[in-house]
Amino acid sequence: MKNQYVLGISAFYHDSAACLLRDGEIVAAVSEERLTRKKGDPDFPRRAVDYCLGVAGIDVSDVSAVGFYDKPLLKFERILETYLGVVPRGFRSFLMAGPLWIKDKLYIDKQLKTALGYKGEILYSEHHESHAASAFFPSPFAEAAILTMDGVGEWATASIGAGRGNDIEILEELHWPDSIGLLYSAFTYYTGFKVNSGEYKVMGLAPYGEPKYVDLILRELMDLREDGSFRLNQKYFNYLTGLTMTNGNFNELFGGPPRMPESLLTQKEMDLARSVQEVCEEIMLRMARTAHKKTGAENLCMAGGVALNCVGNGRLLREGPFKNLWIQPAAGDAGGALGVAQLIHYRHLGNARVVVPGRDSMKGAYLGPAFTVDEIEAFLTATGAAYRRLEEPTLLDSVAQLLAEEKIVGWFDGRMEFGPRALGARSILGDPRSPRMQAQMNIKIKFREGFRPFAPSVLRERVADYFELDGDSPYMLLVAPVQEHRRVPLTAAQHELWGIDKLNVPRSDIPAVTHIDYSARIQTVSRDTSPRYYDLIKAFERRTGCGVVVNTSFNVRGEPIVCTPGDAYRCFMRTNIDALVLGPFLLEKNAQPEWKEDLEWQKEFQLD
Ligand SMILES: [Fe+2]
Repeated sequence: MKNQYVLGISAFYHDSAACLLRDGEIVAAVSEERLTRKKGDPDFPRRAVDYCLGVAGIDVSDVSAVGFYDKPLLKFERILETYLGVVPRGFRSFLMAGPLWIKDKLYIDKQLKTALGYKGEILYSEHHESHAASAFFPSPFAEAAILTMDGVGEWATASIGAGRGNDIEILEELHWPDSIGLLYSAFTYYTGFKVNSGEYKVMGLAPYGEPKYVDLILRELMDLREDGSFRLNQKYFNYLTGLTMTNGNFNELFGGPPRMPESLLTQKEMDLARSVQEVCEEIMLRMARTAHKKTGAENLCMAGGVALNCVGNGRLLREGPFKNLWIQPAAGDAGGALGVAQLIHYRHLGNARVVVPGRDSMKGAYLGPAFTVDEIEAFLTATGAAYRRLEEPTLLDSVAQLLAEEKIVGWFDGRMEFGPRALGARSILGDPRSPRMQAQMNIKIKFREGFRPFAPSVLRERVADYFELDGDSPYMLLVAPVQEHRRVPLTAAQHELWGIDKLNVPRSDIPAVTHIDYSARIQTVSRDTSPRYYDLIKAFERRTGCGVVVNTSFNVRGEPIVCTPGDAYRCFMRTNIDALVLGPFLLEKNAQPEWKEDLEWQKEFQLD
């Protein structure tokens, strides 16, 4: 029998992506940015589509259906009505958004068909429906409540839904301009970080601050209701009408203009971060309670950019009404490509959904490009890199030894992850026991702010030894406290230290992955989904007794996560990473030839 293929696409906003299903199985999924090397690339995902079709060995004419992750006309309607409703204040932002929308987004159907060379009909789902589908269908649950939260799609900014068998139903929506994502982004902007990517930094900064502004936010900026819905007081925001997120009233309320990007962080930004984080958690908790009331379900699935708020997710799991929580690893808009494809497969094509209890269908999120041993070796030979091919046990043991010597190792293995987190396929690793590791990795490797925490990858069976969590967190989307007995209390003198200085005081016996408030953003690693990564941590455990490694994404600040051996080697050579593993090959920095930019091989080995 012929296979049934469905292609999902998300594009033209930020983080374009493509995903291919074969008879419902997720065959491939990748963000365009990883292939073009343009961070958050919003263009039509040409390379991502070609990659997905290539994995299946098919042509676009073999595809049964193509889906797009939102409805451009509805989105245009929102922009237009916003504009009409607030003339003349809206004029500026409309002029900025207008031509682009009209040219690219209204004629999207034609554009997609032409770009794809596809003759069939293209199907559209609503933005939050795509998020909801990406949250429920790959989950390990036959039935679940669904919560989606982001900045904005067409009109919806959050939704509550229910998933059962092979369908989902949206029960409630919160609409623009009342948006938890935009509220968070407003504070991201005000504290001097980049909207759409700096939200993670605000979350990381929050534990250094006090929740001083919570009352002010709840009193002045919003009207938060018991059910989690709210209205934002537009008097303080500028995203409806202007090019910035906040306005003069906002500045007045919080005592000054926004922090200039890259300028020194002060206690005020930390207190603001902590405050908006707490408000965000409160909204998440209330929405989750409402979802529970409406569905009676014991499982919750989540997606949408706000579902990347792993501190909030951790609280939901601990304090919320649900027994089980599953979060789509590609929770942002890239995941919409996967959501719309699955919605088509189940709802439109009417296929049955088979759930394996306790196991999701994301394949560990390892859904992107992989490279054969021959391809890697051809690359290494062409670059003149110094490398050794090692037998597996020797390789793992050598890496474990390097880590134990406080060396930093680039780890490149198998298919690249789909979604923003590195999960042991494109990761930089370190020893979590080292008190110097956090500062070293931030400054010498990632070239980023020193306050940012690192995440632990822990052997699944040992997670409760280290953390107050006794369950799966395969996608690094849950934050939980480090176990009490591993913590090191602060002395009175250390308590007096100012914000970031506290960072240099070890907080536990795994200080490199213990945040200032004793929390950690956990990835549990199981042998069935991540066999080689698991074996590596096991080798490190055999050598040191420690079942945890530091795992951070393989890239530098401002760059997408590496995809190819060439990307990895370049990142390795440009930073202070000490050793690099590419499949079965081990490369040590001090053995490499001198690094020169723009060599011939860099052109030859670019993906196109
Ligand atoms: Fe979204």
